[in-house]
Amino acid sequence: MRELLFLNQYLIKYGKMMVWGIIFILLTNVFSASVPVLVRLGLDEALKQSLWITGKGDALASSLIFQTALAFGLGILLVAIIRGVCMYYMRQTLIVVSRQVEYDLKNRLYSKYQKLGESFYRKHMTGDLLSRTSEDVSNVRMYIGPAIMYFANMIFTFVVVIYQMAQANASLTVWVLLPLPFLSYSIYQVSRRMNLGNKQIQEQLSVLTASAQETFAGIRIIKSFGMENTFSAKFQSEGEEYKKRNMQLAKINALFFPMMLLLMGLSTLIVIYLGGKEVEKGAFTPGNLAEFVIYLNMLIWPVASLGWTTALVQKAAASQKRINEFLTAEEHQEVAGKPFVFDRDIAIQNLNFTYEGKTQPALKNLSLTIKRGEILGVTGRTGAGKSTLVQLLSAMYYSSQDAANVLIDGIPLQDINLHEFRSHLAYVPQDVFLFSETIRDNIAFGIESGEIADDELQLAVNAACLQKDIPQWPQGLNTLLGERGVSLSGGQKQRVALARALVKRADLYVLDDCLSAVDAETERQIIDHLSLWLKDATAIIVAHRIAPLKMANRIVVLEEGAIIDIGTHEELLHRCEYYRNLNDSQSAEFQ
Ligand SMILES: Nc1ncnc2c1ncn2[C@@H]1O[C@H](COP(=O)(O)OP(=O)(O)OP(=O)(O)O)[C@@H](O)[C@H]1O
Ligand SMILES: [Mg+2]
Repeated sequence: MRELLFLNQYLIKYGKMMVWGIIFILLTNVFSASVPVLVRLGLDEALKQSLWITGKGDALASSLIFQTALAFGLGILLVAIIRGVCMYYMRQTLIVVSRQVEYDLKNRLYSKYQKLGESFYRKHMTGDLLSRTSEDVSNVRMYIGPAIMYFANMIFTFVVVIYQMAQANASLTVWVLLPLPFLSYSIYQVSRRMNLGNKQIQEQLSVLTASAQETFAGIRIIKSFGMENTFSAKFQSEGEEYKKRNMQLAKINALFFPMMLLLMGLSTLIVIYLGGKEVEKGAFTPGNLAEFVIYLNMLIWPVASLGWTTALVQKAAASQKRINEFLTAEEHQEVAGKPFVFDRDIAIQNLNFTYEGKTQPALKNLSLTIKRGEILGVTGRTGAGKSTLVQLLSAMYYSSQDAANVLIDGIPLQDINLHEFRSHLAYVPQDVFLFSETIRDNIAFGIESGEIADDELQLAVNAACLQKDIPQWPQGLNTLLGERGVSLSGGQKQRVALARALVKRADLYVLDDCLSAVDAETERQIIDHLSLWLKDATAIIVAHRIAPLKMANRIVVLEEGAIIDIGTHEELLHRCEYYRNLNDSQSAEFQ
């Protein structure tokens, strides 16, 4: 429950609304509790009149009684209307606050997500991130809204109703209240089981959704391997489990109302039996008896809601715990620092790096200096650590320990404002990611102002050799990508990502295998453009192909996370066997 204390800040923030909400709950109860009193007074008055007028003629008697009933009936109607208005405002304040808090919490989580680093995203799946902003936040909302509202309502109802009952007949009150704790406890147990059942259903639903999503995403592979039946069977068995869990919940749900009615009926029986005896003795009027039955009915729902809200609060506490886990996750602390300048070199000193959960290091004792204005090629077998190296260099993976070994102009990365640093960096990742926006917006993505001159865009488009692809797209560069737009070929995607980096006019370019899906002729043209484009910049180019590597001033050859050689193209041809083989195999291809 401690977790829920976190939400007090929101209760304070919306304190005024909450206080109004509580006032309306109080008013609602006061008006509700006056209904039974009116019933008693009306009934007793009518009875008195009927005794008094006995023998004075039926017509007179019935018209008198009718008038009394009409007057009290109208009174009850008026009270009910006022009560309805108060109830409306009770919900308009408390439930609205809960929606506000839901909105605030979602925004808070979303902006926290933006600040969390790579290591966080390696540990948590997208589905988990989403479920904490949706389901968990709505569980918490149920606490702020309905749970607090019904709880406050219950307290007021109890105070007002029990006070009035005790005024009328204290011992009967005790008898009536006796079964209520059982009712509350059993509703609590049922609600808890219902929540548990719901949770299991939710879990199974996400399994089912994930499985369906993966099936549709990979439908071509499934069909080409003829695996339709296997996947259908898998989906069916997961659906079966989902159905089973729903059936279980339906059984528990079915218990809820009969149980409530049973206990309610029991209490009513006690009231009528014991109250009837009191009436016989003359200690109680029939009006009192009717009043008691109504009181009892007024108590039932709050008593039931106590069990229900307790279960809600427990669920909210568990959800808030999950939300707090993310809200308190360590985020990268941006150093205020001076404006970032990069005019000397990037140095790596004895860099070791092991991915979490792995035993083999991805980088071993790596030292390297890249001068400003230099183009550095990086090659090596697949899995050698090339992508890891460039990601560490460009602060994609961040931990204070790694950062201490990467120095820019002698300053460790951890003392550099990363936002500043990244504004000087243009990065093409190995697995290209494009947004479902237009091609133009995807290219202009990294421009912070969002505005880009047409000729600048055109230059980048030309440099990435996208010009000749434009006629294929229905609206040229303004064609929408993604689910409702066109899909690009692998090589087109790579070149859009390259144009996105180039248009940034950065100081440092990191191109991770960005030409691997491009044909040799286009590759040659792009390399020509790149050598001009990168003239004043520093660049790290990862490649398996010799052609882009030849652009580099020096080439690093990695093997199992270590540098096995570093030198110019010619030097490596002479002394590095891996590089020579790479070169030979590729020149053989073109002969
Ligand atoms: N996110 C990750 N989590 C755990 N291990 C990883 C992760 N990314 C890479 N590795 C491991 O680190 C090692 C180096 O991977 P890296 O991606 O740097 O290789 P690479 O040289 O870029 O290979 P390729 O030429 O295929 O792109 C590999 O053994 C790989 O399995
Ligand atoms: Mg790689």
